[in-house]
Amino acid sequence: MVSKKDIQKEYKNLKEKIKFHNEKYHSQDDPDITDQEFDLLFKQLKELEKNNAFIDTTDSPSRMVGGKKLSELTPFEHGLPMLSLDNAFSSEDLKDFEKRNLNKLKENIDFSYLVEPKIDGVAISLFYENGNLLRAGTRGDGFVGEDVTHNVLTIPEIPMTLNRTSIDFPKKMEVRGEIFIELNDFSLINKDFKKNNKKVFANPRNFVAGSIRQLDSSIAAKRPLKIFCHSIGLVSDRNFFETQDEMLKKFNKWGLPISKEVNVCNNLDEAAGLIDLLTEKRNKLNYEIDGIVVKINSKAIQEKLGNSSRSPRWAIAKKFPAEEGESRILSISFQMGRTGVLTPVANLEPVKLGGVTISNATLHNMDEVKRLDVRENDYVKIIRAGDVIPKIKEVVLKKREDGSKTISPPNTCPTCDNTISFFESNTPLLNTDVLTTNNKNCYGFSQFKETLKHFVSRNAMDIDGLGQKTIDIFVDKELVTSLPDLYRLNEEDILSLEGFAEKSADKLLDSLNESLNTDLHRFIYALGIKEIGIETSKNLSKYFENLESFFSIKYEDYLEVNDVGEVAAANLENFFKSDSNKKILEELLKLGLDLKPPIQVKESHLTSKVIVITGKLSNYSRESLKLKLENLGAKVSNSLSKKTDYLIAGEDPGSKLSKAKQLNIDIIGYSDLDGFLNNL
Ligand code: IVH
Repeated sequence: MVSKKDIQKEYKNLKEKIKFHNEKYHSQDDPDITDQEFDLLFKQLKELEKNNAFIDTTDSPSRMVGGKKLSELTPFEHGLPMLSLDNAFSSEDLKDFEKRNLNKLKENIDFSYLVEPKIDGVAISLFYENGNLLRAGTRGDGFVGEDVTHNVLTIPEIPMTLNRTSIDFPKKMEVRGEIFIELNDFSLINKDFKKNNKKVFANPRNFVAGSIRQLDSSIAAKRPLKIFCHSIGLVSDRNFFETQDEMLKKFNKWGLPISKEVNVCNNLDEAAGLIDLLTEKRNKLNYEIDGIVVKINSKAIQEKLGNSSRSPRWAIAKKFPAEEGESRILSISFQMGRTGVLTPVANLEPVKLGGVTISNATLHNMDEVKRLDVRENDYVKIIRAGDVIPKIKEVVLKKREDGSKTISPPNTCPTCDNTISFFESNTPLLNTDVLTTNNKNCYGFSQFKETLKHFVSRNAMDIDGLGQKTIDIFVDKELVTSLPDLYRLNEEDILSLEGFAEKSADKLLDSLNESLNTDLHRFIYALGIKEIGIETSKNLSKYFENLESFFSIKYEDYLEVNDVGEVAAANLENFFKSDSNKKILEELLKLGLDLKPPIQVKESHLTSKVIVITGKLSNYSRESLKLKLENLGAKVSNSLSKKTDYLIAGEDPGSKLSKAKQLNIDIIGYSDLDGFLNNL
């Protein structure tokens, strides 16, 4: 039987080990165990915590935030579900809402309503017990969200303890609200990000979600997040509030921020008037709203009406009409979809609509192209309603240029260059013509996944964190529809997927970024051209030296290369002469693909020497020193062993120095480094 004391001791040891490795990983950037080993330690720690209630976890790394490694956000169970709101698009819908409720109550009364903005932010639930904020969680699926207490605690506006005023508060309550960012703060931050070449955020909501779902609270702490509290979930005393309005007033007294735009009225007509006023005011508000919420004020009536499975019956969100804008069609292209069907897409001059920049709109099918009679260079009216995909409403005919041509479908598939067949659908519901390659060799959907799998593999672009499962998800969710799309992924895209936490997302992005500077031969191999394996790619890369020359190479030239026979030469020629492939390569170059030409390694005093680097080196970045050594023919390794020839030791070299001494390995001190490199 293991005693409590032994467990405490084991726990303390584990805790110290993890803190030590955390420090090495995050602060010194010099881990000496693998991620897997670290994860194992972490798992052991969590197991101990789970199985032994007596353990004091207050300073546990499992709770720690701020540059410290966490595995992922933990689940957050809601006391009462976080529901959605029903939508109303017209005044008719609002009248129906009232009628439904009157029928349900079997009464004919005037409801008093609350009219308030529907904040376009991130929903949050704050759990207070005896006035103290204990936990905070996101909405998730309504029942279970994610624990983001560490980030919520960085928002100065959210009180850790409620003001004790003359009114007491319920012993327990879940305060529901919306975290958002003010528009001027958002645009300042985005400008700054742009200046520093960081990814900008598409809209304020994404920015907030990206801040709140981080493991590292120092990120949220730097961002001026705000909150409006608007409702309540579980509350220990159900009769604590008589009206919605009174509840908000109490929130305010306790120090919980509420919107200034909330108004009470006596009937639906007045509510309609308040909706109009707030709609007019919308563009003057310093935060984004995506509708106006109308709520029955009386809590007793709210209770009587109750909820449907999805939303409360006593509230409704009046949505804004679709936003309309104008843009110009730059080109119309055809995209291969998951089922092998080609979809026409209008590539637009970027235009801002409802807070997001729109640069393309689907045209669905050829029927739609004919119906709208869209042509390249046409000016078009675009509409976007809420989160719905933007649509082209009509062509602005009076702005049409003379001589514009109608759009015909391509003859060959843009992804595989195979002939396209025209399939006339006889499904009355679809009533549309479908373009398809009907060709099993077209890398429509599943082939595309295979292409990606090969592209990211170890000998190819060597992108960490992109296994088969992740690739499937990226492709299925259409986050990645072409190779260049891989390099357009951003942190939000990745964090939006289950199983990704901040660290794994960052790792993937770093890995993608690094891969843009890979060797020419790896890239050639990564393209997955039939018959072109890694060795042939090396030969090709030594022969042609840069990617650009591949565009002008002919069949006969390929045959000159060691190892390249007639089939391989034909495949290479076909690949590089295809317009769609050229487009992909051009896009990749635009995204920063910068391939390293083959190193023509000269014989040097370091040829084939195995070298390990440790400690801080103020004159060199570790990467540049590594490159320099490799260019001299050395192999740079991370782990010290008997096979190591030299250890380059910078400042604070740590345990590797003593190990090298034990193994009798030559140690190059920092002051000797230049001499060592130059063989002086
Ligand atoms: S009341 C669902 N009031 O909208 C019942 N919700 O579509 C309680 N939201 O997840 C919600 N502003 O986070 C309410 N003034 C407001 C709101 C609001 C934004 C969010 C809320 C909810 C979503 C429902």
